[in-house]
Formats: sequence, C-alpha cells, structure tokens
Amino acid sequence: MAFPCVSFILLLLLLLLLLQESCFVLSRLSTNVYIVYMGERPHDEPELIEDSHHQILSNLLGSEEAAKESILYHYKHGFSGFAAVLTESQAKVIADFPGVVRVVPNRILSLQTTRSWDFLHVNPHSGTGILSKSLSGFGSIIGIIDTGIWPESDSFKDKGMGKIPSRWHGTCQEGEQFNRSNCNRKIIGARWYIKGYEADFGKLDTSGGVEFLSPRDAVGHGTHTASIAAGSLVKNANFRGLARGLARGGAPSAQLAVYKVCWSTGGCSSADVLAAFDDAVLDGVDVLSVSLGSSPPLTAYFDDSLAIGSFHAVAKGISVVCSAGNSGPYPQTVINTAPWIISVAASTIDRAFRTVITLGNNQTLVGQALYTGKNVNKFYSFVYGESIVSQDSDEESARGCDIGSLNATLARGNVVLCFQTRSQRFSATAIRTVQTVGGVGLIFAKSPSKDVTQSMGIPCVEVDLVTGTSLLTYMVSTSKPMVKFSPTKTKVGLQSSPEVAYFSSRGPSSLSPSVLKPDIAAPGVSILAAWSPAASSPTIDMTQKELPPENFMIESGTSMACPHVSGIVALLNSMYPTWSPAAIKSALITTASVKDEYGLNVVAEGAPYKQADPFDYGGGHVDPNKAMDPGLIYDMGMKDYVHFLCSMGYNTTAIHLITKSPCPKNRNRNLLLNLNLPSIIIPNLKKSLAVSRTVTNVGPEESVYIAQVEAPPGTNVRVEPWILSFNSTTKKLKFKVFFCSRQRLLGRYSFGHLLWGDGFHAVRIPLIIGTVTADL
Ligand SMILES: *[C@@H]1O[C@H](CO)[C@@H](O)[C@H](O)[C@H]1NC(C)=O
Ligand SMILES: *[C@@H]1O[C@H](CO)[C@@H](O)[C@H](O)[C@H]1NC(C)=O
Ligand SMILES: *[C@@H]1O[C@H](CO)[C@@H](O)[C@H](O)[C@H]1NC(C)=O
Ligand SMILES: *[C@@H]1O[C@H](CO)[C@@H](O)[C@H](O)[C@H]1NC(C)=O
Ligand SMILES: *[C@@H]1O[C@H](CO)[C@@H](O)[C@H](O)[C@H]1NC(C)=O
Repeated sequence: MAFPCVSFILLLLLLLLLLQESCFVLSRLSTNVYIVYMGERPHDEPELIEDSHHQILSNLLGSEEAAKESILYHYKHGFSGFAAVLTESQAKVIADFPGVVRVVPNRILSLQTTRSWDFLHVNPHSGTGILSKSLSGFGSIIGIIDTGIWPESDSFKDKGMGKIPSRWHGTCQEGEQFNRSNCNRKIIGARWYIKGYEADFGKLDTSGGVEFLSPRDAVGHGTHTASIAAGSLVKNANFRGLARGLARGGAPSAQLAVYKVCWSTGGCSSADVLAAFDDAVLDGVDVLSVSLGSSPPLTAYFDDSLAIGSFHAVAKGISVVCSAGNSGPYPQTVINTAPWIISVAASTIDRAFRTVITLGNNQTLVGQALYTGKNVNKFYSFVYGESIVSQDSDEESARGCDIGSLNATLARGNVVLCFQTRSQRFSATAIRTVQTVGGVGLIFAKSPSKDVTQSMGIPCVEVDLVTGTSLLTYMVSTSKPMVKFSPTKTKVGLQSSPEVAYFSSRGPSSLSPSVLKPDIAAPGVSILAAWSPAASSPTIDMTQKELPPENFMIESGTSMACPHVSGIVALLNSMYPTWSPAAIKSALITTASVKDEYGLNVVAEGAPYKQADPFDYGGGHVDPNKAMDPGLIYDMGMKDYVHFLCSMGYNTTAIHLITKSPCPKNRNRNLLLNLNLPSIIIPNLKKSLAVSRTVTNVGPEESVYIAQVEAPPGTNVRVEPWILSFNSTTKKLKFKVFFCSRQRLLGRYSFGHLLWGDGFHAVRIPLIIGTVTADL
C-alpha cells in the first residue's frame, strides 16, 4: 500500500511544480512596468530630481497624484530616472520627452547557477574557497545584488571584524524575520526590492514560508555568493560529509552590503535591480557583485538595466563584477558584455567527487556523484532507459529519461542508465524521472564535464560517453545486468585544473565583438559555500524523511565564479584605494594565468582537450597574488567609455544626457579599437591596421619594459616603440601595435598575445584577429 501513496504524493508534487512554472508564465499582469532612463543626474539634489520625475509624469497622466501613484522607484543617487506603471502608448509618448534617454520595458533576469529555476529543489554543487593568500580585504565593502542573505550562517559572524566605516551611508532594512539585530560588523547593510516584481506579477504570497519579505534569503544563492566573496572562516564546513574543510571567502575581512532583488518564485525584476544599483552608489560600496543576467540575444547597452546601473557605478569608482553566463560551450553566448563590467567565466578546481561503479562481472568504472545516502554497496539489476520506454512516450525521450518517458512497472527497483539529450544539459530531469518511477538509482552519461548534479534520495552517478557506451556494451553481453555503487569520496588533486567549465558562456560578444568577453575565469564548478537552510528543506525525497536543513551547499555556475573575483577585487581595493575600476580590471587580466598547475596550457571543456582561448577565459585564469603586483596597467576613465558609446552609434543628445560629455568629432571605428582595454581584438582585419594603447607604470619608478609578441597565426605584428622606459616623471607611455594580415580566410579568429616584461613582471594581453577577404 505504501507505494501508490508515495507515487501519489510525488505526482502531486510534480503537478505543483508544473503548475508553479505555468503560473510564472501566465500570471504576469496586464499592466506594464517601464524604466524611464534619463542619464546622469542634472545636480545633487535628490528631492529636486524626484520633483522633475513627478512633473514629467504629471504632464502625461494629467495630475500629480496619478504620477505619484504610478511611480515605483525614483533613481536619483547614481543617475536619474524612474520606474513606473504605464501603458504601451504612454511609454511611447514619454520616450520623446526632452531629457529622456530611453524607455525600457521591465525585464526578468535570472540567477546564473547551473541549477535552473524550474528545479529549485533538485540541484548541483561543489568546492571551497581556493582564494588569495592575503586574508585582507579590510576596509572594503562588497555589495551583493542577489537573493538576500541568511544572516545566522557561521560565514557571517563578525568576530574580529573592523568597525563599520563612518563613510557608510547604508541601512539595515527590516522585514519578515529580519530586524536590525541581523546586521553586524560583517553584514553592515541590507535592503530589499520587490515593487517592480509585484507590479508585474502581483503580490507575493509569503504565507507558505517559501519567501520572506525582507533581506532574508529563501533561495540560498545570495548566501552562497556572499560567503564566496567575503565569508568569514568556518572550520569543518561540508555538504553531507563531502568537500569537508575550511570554508572562507576571498576577502574574509571585507564587509558585506546585501541588496535582495531576486525571489524564490522566479527571478529578478530589472526595475528592482536598478534601484539596488542606485542605492549602492549612495551607500558607499566599493565593489558590486552581480551573479545575474539574461541569456542572448543581448539588448543595446542603454536598454539593459545591468549595463545602465553598472555604468553609473563605475563612474563613481565602484568596480562591478558580473557572471558571464551559463550557455556554453557555444560561441557568442557571453552576457554582461559592457566594457566597464568585469565578466567572469567559470573554471574547474582540482577536487573531484569520485564514485566507483561495480558491474555484475566485477568490472569497475569511475564516475562522479554528490551522494552519501542509501542504496549503495549493494547490487541492483540494471536497465537502459530506452528498453523500458512507456507506451505513451518514444525511445529518444526514454534514452534521456525525460519526464513521463519510462514505464514504472519495468523501472521499479532497478538502476536506470540514461544518456544526455540535446534538451537536457544537466541530469536534474533524469533524476526526477527515475525517482518518480521508483528506480533505485541512475547513471547519467554525458559529454565530459566536471560539474555534478546533487541527488537526494537515490544515487545519480555521472559518467562520460565513453564510460556510458561501455556500460551499454556490458548490458547487451549479459542476460542479467547488475550494478553496484560505492559512496562518493572527495578526492583532491587528482583532476587536472583549472579547465574552463563546459557550461561557461563563450565569446566573442554578440553585441560588441571588438570588446573581448569574458574578461577572466575563476572557480565556478562544485563550490562549497554557505546556504540558506530555508531553501533546502522541501526536497523531493523518496525516503519521505525530512532531510536536515543544509547550512552549506555545493553549487556550480558562473554565479559562483563572479564572487570569487569580487572578493579579489575587494583585496585589491584595500591595497590600492585610489585605483580606478579599469585599473583593477587590468591588473586582473594582465596577470591571469593561461597555464594549469602542471605548466600545460589550460584546456576548455566542451571540446575535449581543446586548448582554451580568450573567448573561453579572457585574459586567463585569475591569479590573485600576481594581480597585487601587475607592474603596468591599462587604465581608462569615463571619457574612454563615452568614446566607446559614441562609436556604438548613440546620438549626441543621448550621450550628453547619459554622461554630460561630448562625443569626439571624428567617430571612426578606430575609436572603438583604440579603447584602452587590456586586450586587442580586431573582428575584421582587411589588410593592415594600427592600434594604440597607453600603459601606466605602477611598479618601481625606474623600469624598462621590452615587448614580446606571439603573433596570431596568419598575421604579422609589430610594436612601436618596443622598449618602454619609465622613471619618476614618466609614468605613462603610449605605444602602437601594427597588424598586417597574411591570410585570405573568411570568418576565422586567431589568437596571440603581447607581453611587456621587465624581468619581474609579465604584463600580458591577448591579441585576437578575425580576418575577412580583402574584396568583401
Ligand atoms: C537622439 O536621441 C534622442 C533621445 O533618444 C531623440 O529624442 C532624438 O530624436 C535623437 N536625435 C537624432 C538626431 O536622431
Ligand atoms: C530581532 O530578532 C531576534 C531574533 O531573530 C529577536 O531575538 C529580537 O528580539 C528581535 N529584535 C527586535 C527589536 O525585534
Ligand atoms: C566477483 O568477485 C567476487 C569477490 O571477489 C567473487 O566472489 C565473484 O565470484 C566474482 N564474480 C565474477 C563474475 O567474477
Ligand atoms: C508497462 O509495462 C507493462 C509490462 O510490460 C505493461 O503491461 C504496461 O502496459 C506498460 N505501461 C505503460 C504505460 O507503458
Ligand atoms: C625621464 O625620462 C624622460 C624621457 O626619457 C626624460 O626626459 C626625463 O628627463 C627623465 N626624468 C628623470 C627624472 O630622469
């Protein structure tokens, strides 16, 4: 009798999940939220800025009351603008008002974990902070724009933390299960934003305990990212015994400011995100860590709330670090591509979660899993998904163990072999299917990648396609295939690393191919960090036992890579408080490593044994100790970004509103190529071209640097001058790089680098040349 009951509950759960998904799509209200972006603030008086917003809107809506009612947010600290509920035609009218740069419909962004929103309770994992040797970060404030925080986590204890700096203007905003006592000298600020979300989706019902109308995290993601960036040291941290060790953030002495904009019911509203940026600028953060985004196609920079918010933050000297996206390994999928943002790709670390599989013939094979529960150390009969297809489904779906594809009568009590399909990047769906039909475990065969999906209740062992194929061979060789799993063991140092993660989004940027993206890679696969115990309780677990809440979790995604870099940026900010965001970014990129721990070239998952290139990892894998002493930097200021915007075709009126600066008279394409980025990428080199850069010496005053070039294949490269001598008065020097194409191939990129060396520092930037035939 127990079984039908369990299946019934499960069905109900599944139904609920499906309903939730469709509600998410259907329940969008008919009113619309628009962001009216008005560029740089005309002056420093927030009240007057608010008045000007009311005036514009009163003209349109006929009364001041109507205007006040429709406005959700005034953006008035970092920039000017507002979010309001408008009709489509009102939005069109307001777009033509003087002073308005753009009117952008509110959009929903998502978190960049490999776990998707649909499977909030069936999720992946991994790793620990491998970070910088300097346990500093003292005096730096990192703002985390995410799902909030679980303040009771050990990672946010404030023992040994410095005072709250007097320059801090932030606040500890109270709400459901969150009051002022939840802030301390580690979490020095916390705010939450829901107006944009509720204007689109209606009031959020928090009665079921799945969300809190406060900075408290019900998802886990924000707690995870915050503890990666600036978590205090926690001894003996682990996820169910796995990955046990000392957990620590990149900048354990840095302080945190929490901006909750994402909700467990499905995403983050761009009007809310922009309000968080606006407040963060006023509050006084030094770094903003933003593990959010929306997948391609990318919108123009000033239709993109992350680009707008980050532009004005960078203008105030705040570094903005974002995730590069999880749509890899396909090219041109990178997101958050504005040149003022640091976009972070994800890499693997040297820790594996080895799980031994023993077959009935005593052959053993190795896979990865994150599983320490029951159904191990015992033989079970072993079936292939395709051979137990439900009559309502088809063989291809059954091969991938899609929802509803397996016959429960035939699956019950067996371990099922499933193969990754094009629609299933991760094993989460297959786990759910096999649990639903009463399977006791599964083996998921996929293209080789090191990220593993955590399974509750039954073991899921992930293997590559070679192992998957030999399992199939074994199955047909015997009449009664059997299989046994051993419990997962954490193994450190066995796995070549870093490698660029399979899922990490790749360049070039589909919006501005002449700006290299991603910028840098950092650990983002199987990262262990703090978690919200409120998030992990309602697991779909066949054992029907409530699993104990998790305080730590293993997760993968560029979401996890981003705060690693945010922590390192905080360290650099503490050491060099006067450096611009561009200088800090340059220090990271020019010192990044392109070799693994054995001195071999870093490879990229997704194309096995493919040598990684800058479209996978930008400058390379982040090296915090080297970044502290970069020697030379490629610095930039707002003027450079304005030139960039001018070359992107924004008109003079718009540019003036955004930045109060004029465009240069001559807006040729060299303006774009001469942007002083720590990389040179020429997407369409016809014949020959010269590009200039300026470097600033931040090392010893008297230094002589010599250029070394590895030319991209098919190109001749010359640097002029090829010796740079710095002294106490000469801090900045300009040089030119001449490129000449020798090849006549269409649509191909080749990679090289330029390295300035003084015997101590190696200041390396990627050179990337795309060629077109001369007669095109
Ligand atoms: C420039 O942009 C502004 C604001 O977007 C717009 O109102 C104006 O018509 C544009 N001017 C030209 C010359 O395109
Ligand atoms: C704040 O919350 C804590 C527990 O979360 C509680 O002990 C304390 O009394 C609350 N303080 C106020 C002022 O409500
Ligand atoms: C597998 O190994 C066990 C113990 O070593 C042994 O008893 C058994 O006969 C072996 N089975 C096969 C099929 O070789
Ligand atoms: C499942 O398999 C059993 C036994 O072969 C069969 O009787 C039943 O009709 C199948 N059900 C479905 C839904 O395919
Ligand atoms: C630094 O170098 C510049 C150019 O080589 C030279 O003109 C200047 O005199 C030097 N300054 C000092 C203090 O040596």
